[in-house]
Amino acid sequence: MSGTFPLVFSVTSGKGGVGKTNLAVNLACSLVQLGKRVTILDSDLGLANVDVVLGLTPQKNLFHLFHEEASLSDILFPTPYGFSILPASSGMSEMLALSTGQKLELLEVVDELEDELDYLIVDTGAGISDNVLYFNMAAQERLVVLTPEPTSLTDAYALIKVLKLNHGVERFRVCVNMAPDQKSAKDIFQRLYQACDHFLGGVSLDLVGIVPRDTAVRKAVVDQIPFTCAAPTSPAARAVKQLATNVSQWKVPEMLDGNIKFFWKKLLFRQ
Ligand SMILES: Nc1ncnc2c1ncn2[C@@H]1O[C@H](COP(=O)(O)OP(=O)(O)OP(=O)(O)O)[C@@H](O)[C@H]1O
Ligand SMILES: [Mg+2]
Repeated sequence: MSGTFPLVFSVTSGKGGVGKTNLAVNLACSLVQLGKRVTILDSDLGLANVDVVLGLTPQKNLFHLFHEEASLSDILFPTPYGFSILPASSGMSEMLALSTGQKLELLEVVDELEDELDYLIVDTGAGISDNVLYFNMAAQERLVVLTPEPTSLTDAYALIKVLKLNHGVERFRVCVNMAPDQKSAKDIFQRLYQACDHFLGGVSLDLVGIVPRDTAVRKAVVDQIPFTCAAPTSPAARAVKQLATNVSQWKVPEMLDGNIKFFWKKLLFRQ
């Protein structure tokens, strides 16, 4: 990537269990294979996901950063797949809503990483909690994960609606996951597109990937190995690699006033 600053993008959804964490992890693997430097921030703070999908057990996580003065190097956990993770804690209810001070601390951490990264992938929780909205606002791009289930469509619409109407977020990328075939994936995207166009006007939605429902994904989840590594020629792995190629063409938005830190700070103090 030519820019100096990393591209921060979220992998998000309205509905839970649509495949965000698996997509984030496998996108990270695929971006590494394209020569990119990647870290995943597990922003599902009270219900860590990323380390579980990878079968890793980091000793320190964001909870320690906030409560025990751990530093970035204490919590940044290298994976065997060439990217690092900033792990979340599990079962810590006080992590469910970040305070402004904690957001600032996180900002410092991200700032420290700035020169060493091409991509910071933020794996969010499901829904429209404060944290989910915050991370989606702070990201420069949002990858909304959708499945052909009707509830996934209505929940994705709800997330986009809140981000647009309450927070002025207008650009979304969409990936349809667990697609039975290309046509149903395009149909579900089209329904989301029409709802947003009709009721929210001014929202840009771009279908950037279709990942098929694939038994290789479930097997890899059980084995705790990313499917792009465990089954690199499976249909899901091929689709994610294609998606990564697409992502690698996204440009870091020009920020007139400076870098990510500035942007996140502005966001913090606007709230
Ligand atoms: N393309 C796919 N084909 C088949 N199964 C899939 C696919 N993608 C995800 N799954 C299944 O869906 C499950 C949930 O995936 P994942 O944990 O990534 O979802 P999530 O959106 O991160 O969930 P949460 O909202 O709880 O964080 C996986 O354990 C896997 O079994
Ligand atoms: Mg998850």
